[in-house]
Amino acid sequence: MKTPRTRTAPKSSFLKSSHPSTSLTGQGKKLWGGRFQENTNLLVEQFTASVDFDRRLYPYDIQGSIAHCRTLERAKIISKKECRLIIGGLIQVQKEIESGKHQWRSEDEDVHMSIERRLTQIIGPIGGKLHTGRSRNDQVTLDLRLYLRDAVQSLTQDLTTLQHSFLLVAKRYQRVIMPGYTHLQRAQPVLFAHHALAYVEMLQRDKERLQDALSRINTMPLGSGALAGTNYPLDRTYTASLLKFPKITENSLDGVSDRDYVLEVLNGCAIIMMHLSRLSEELILWASQEFRFANLPDGFCTGSSMMPQKKNPDIPELVRGKTGRVYGHLIGVLTTLKGLPLSYNRDLQEDKVPLFDTIETVTASLKIYAELIAQLTISEPAMAESVGHGFLLATELADYLVLKGVPFRESHHIVGRLVADCLSTGKDLAQLTAADLRKFSAAFGADALHVLTPQAAIDRKNLIGGTATNQVAYQLIRWTSTLKKEIGKSKRTVRSR
Ligand code: ARG
Repeated sequence: MKTPRTRTAPKSSFLKSSHPSTSLTGQGKKLWGGRFQENTNLLVEQFTASVDFDRRLYPYDIQGSIAHCRTLERAKIISKKECRLIIGGLIQVQKEIESGKHQWRSEDEDVHMSIERRLTQIIGPIGGKLHTGRSRNDQVTLDLRLYLRDAVQSLTQDLTTLQHSFLLVAKRYQRVIMPGYTHLQRAQPVLFAHHALAYVEMLQRDKERLQDALSRINTMPLGSGALAGTNYPLDRTYTASLLKFPKITENSLDGVSDRDYVLEVLNGCAIIMMHLSRLSEELILWASQEFRFANLPDGFCTGSSMMPQKKNPDIPELVRGKTGRVYGHLIGVLTTLKGLPLSYNRDLQEDKVPLFDTIETVTASLKIYAELIAQLTISEPAMAESVGHGFLLATELADYLVLKGVPFRESHHIVGRLVADCLSTGKDLAQLTAADLRKFSAAFGADALHVLTPQAAIDRKNLIGGTATNQVAYQLIRWTSTLKKEIGKSKRTVRSR
C-alpha cells in the first residue's frame, strides 16, 4: 500500500469534524465571555467552532476589517493613529497566516475572532476598538460576499477556458460528421463541431447566470450591526466605496439574515454540474466499445486492478457523481434557511461547508474537463459508420417530396412506408435505386438520390443555428472572437487588481 506523501490536511479537509492543527483543549477567555461564569464545555467548543473551514475567509475578513477601521476613523470614533496601528496589525496577521505561522485554534471559534485575538496580541488593547459598531453577524455576510465575488470571477474564467477547449476540438474535427440523436436513437446527421459548440452555448449561459448573481452579491452589509444597525454615525457608502461595492443593504435585519445570494451561486453551480454531467454521460457512452466515437486521453483514464484490458472513464464518472453532491448542497442550504425567523440565527453558519465544497468541486471539475476536452480524440470512421446505418436521411427524402409539391404529412407517410420496407428486406436507404423510390411515389425524380448523402443533408440545414458547414464555420468564428475578447478582459481585470 502506498504511504501518503504528506501529512498536511488537503484543502477540502473541512468535511472532517476537526483539523489536526486545531487544539481542542484550550479553555481560554472568550471575546464574548464577560457574562459567563463557567468555562465553555469542551464539546460545545468543538461543536460550535467553524474556524476549521471558515478560515478560508481570512483575506476577506481582513480586507473588510481594514475598510471598517477606516470608516471608524472617518466618523472620529478612533484616532488616525489608532487606525494606522490597527491596519498595521491586521496586515501583520495576514502575513502570519500566509506564512503558516498563525495558530488556528478552535477555542477562538471562528475566523473573525481568531484574527481579532491575534490582532490584540500584536497591538494590545487598541485592537479591541476594531469591533466597535460591528457584529460578527454583519461581518460574516460581508466576508461571504467578498469571497463569492472572487469565486464567481474565477468560475467565470474556468468556464471560458473550458469553452476554449471545446472550440479547439471543434476546429480540429471541423468537417467530421456524426449521428445526431433524439431519445438516444439515431436521428439526423450533424457536424461534430456543431455538437461541441452546443456545450459552448450552455457554458456561456452558465457564466451569464453567475454574473447576474454578482449584481446582488455586490451589496455591502456592514453597518447592519447585530441586527438593528449601529449607534455610530458610520458612513456606509464610504465603506462600500473602499470595498468597491456599488450598493449597500437598505435594511439591517435583511442585511444580516438572508443568504439568498449564496443560494443563487449554489443554483448556478448546480446547473453547471448538470451540464457537465450530461457531457460526462456522452463521453462515457462515446468511449464505450458499443459507440467507439471517442478516445479519452490515457492520462485521464484509469485501469482495473484485476482486468488488464480495462481503460475506464473515471473522470467523467466522477464529475457525474459529484453532480449529486453539488445538488445536495443546494437543497441542504435551501432547507437550512427555510425555517429561520428573522434575523441572524446560528443555523446560518451551516451555509459554509456546502458553499465552499460546491465552489471547490465545480472549480476542480471545470479545470479537469478543460484539459481532457482539449486532448479528446474523435474517431471519424466510427462516426461515419454510424451515420451510414439507421435511416438518418429519411427526413431528407420526405423534404425532397415536399419540394415536389407533396404535403409534408403525406411525404412523411410515404417515406415511413419506404423505411418499413427497407427494414423487412434488410436494406439501407443508400442501397436504393431511383426505381425503388418511384415504387412509393411518382414524385421521386432521378435527382432524389442526390439528397441521400450525409454531407448534402448537413448543408441543407443552412439557417442560423443549423448544422450546415458554412453556418458552423460562422459560429466558430463568432465564438473565437467572443472568447478572445473575454479572455482579454479577464486578463485586464487580474492586472488591475
Ligand atoms: N460563525 C458564524 C457564522 O458563520 C458567525 C458568527 C456569528 N455568531 C454569533 N454568535 N452571532 O455565521
